[in-house]
Amino acid sequence: MKLLVTGGCGFIGSNFTRRMLAAHPDWTIVNLDKLTYAGNPANLSSVVDNPRYRFVKGDIADAAIVDRILSEGEFDAIVNYAAETHVDRSIMDPTAFLRTSVFGTYVLLEAVRKYQIPRFVQISTDEVFGAVMEGESGDHAPFEPRSPYSAAKASGDHLVASYFATYGLPAIITHACNMYGPYHYPEKMFPLFITNLMEGKKVPVYGDGMQVREWMHIDDHARAIELLLEKGIVGESYNIGTGDRVPNLEITKKILALCGKDESSIEYVKDRPGHDRRYAINSAKIRRELGWAPYISLDDGLASTVEWYKANEAWWKPIKSGEFQKYYEAQYVTR
Ligand code: NAD
Ligand code: DAU
Repeated sequence: MKLLVTGGCGFIGSNFTRRMLAAHPDWTIVNLDKLTYAGNPANLSSVVDNPRYRFVKGDIADAAIVDRILSEGEFDAIVNYAAETHVDRSIMDPTAFLRTSVFGTYVLLEAVRKYQIPRFVQISTDEVFGAVMEGESGDHAPFEPRSPYSAAKASGDHLVASYFATYGLPAIITHACNMYGPYHYPEKMFPLFITNLMEGKKVPVYGDGMQVREWMHIDDHARAIELLLEKGIVGESYNIGTGDRVPNLEITKKILALCGKDESSIEYVKDRPGHDRRYAINSAKIRRELGWAPYISLDDGLASTVEWYKANEAWWKPIKSGEFQKYYEAQYVTR
């Protein structure tokens, strides 16, 4: 298979790229990534010399660069991971979120039409369903996004679905729950809390900390996308989740214990505006139809993730002392 992966230098795209190159000796991957603050070529240093991997620095909203890549060979599929992904940043300035998730998705869809790419996988999020106060969101639940981030992702998904309905474009949309694991940019809760504790700092819990998220180890997600590329039904949306729904405070206490700290390291801070109280997705379809299941329990995954951050200070310390630090300070001023 020859794949175009977009956003492959980020947390999830780099995990997928590393794993697929290792698992499939006959796959080649071109990675188109703009290298925003979150895109880190170090995430893919282990494959940079692999002849089956090629990196192109560029923007998915730049039709010329997308056209140039796709004109250079026959691709079997595109997996679109590229997005601005941090909800708090979208609240501060939504511009880049809209440009990438809406216009960028449109550029990719037009390219899929022009080059008749056999498969397009849109990586989206459970946040498009909005807060789910009880029960679960099904694979085709209505969208009720409540942040500029999730509204931009939902808009991209609507475009993808419209291209399937109108042009028969062979697209699949995924809605996955919250992920954690190695190479997670340390502005997100898991890596921020782990690295703060390692630096002797407190962890900022938003509001009362009783917001519920559904958590999945990133390796389990890569397996789901692999199956969807091989066996997913075009025109379908698939939820990818674990059922492991845990309040933030409970996760925080697990992280504190793994880092040898107690609750005096918690700092309760002002809540995120419009903070979704609970996410819960029903992932029965992908389990039933494709035989996918998550293998990594939250406790095992969390323990190995903490170990990874302890062993990889050289990856996260430069991030926290640079651009990230400036953003984080600005956030605290606005709180
Ligand atoms: P990330 O922020 O770690 O990485 C995003 C990557 O996209 C970066 O490498 C960045 O440089 C690149 N990028 C951004 N704008 C681009 C553009 N215009 N053109 C090309 N590249 C661009 O994000 P992530 O956590 O890896 O998320 C990847 C995808 O998965 C996103 O679409 C996100 O919405 C979705 N998702 C994430 C989670 C999660 O828990 N992290 C859960 C469900 C879905
Ligand atoms: O659900 C999938 C989504 O998960 C993805 O689509 C997003 O790209 C990804 O960023 C993530 O969004 P969240 O907003 O859920 O993740 P975040 O790590 O920012 O926050 C997780 C929870 O922890 C959320 O309820 C907010 C809370 N939180 C977060 C931070 C950064 C805190 O309490 N304190 C913090 O400092």
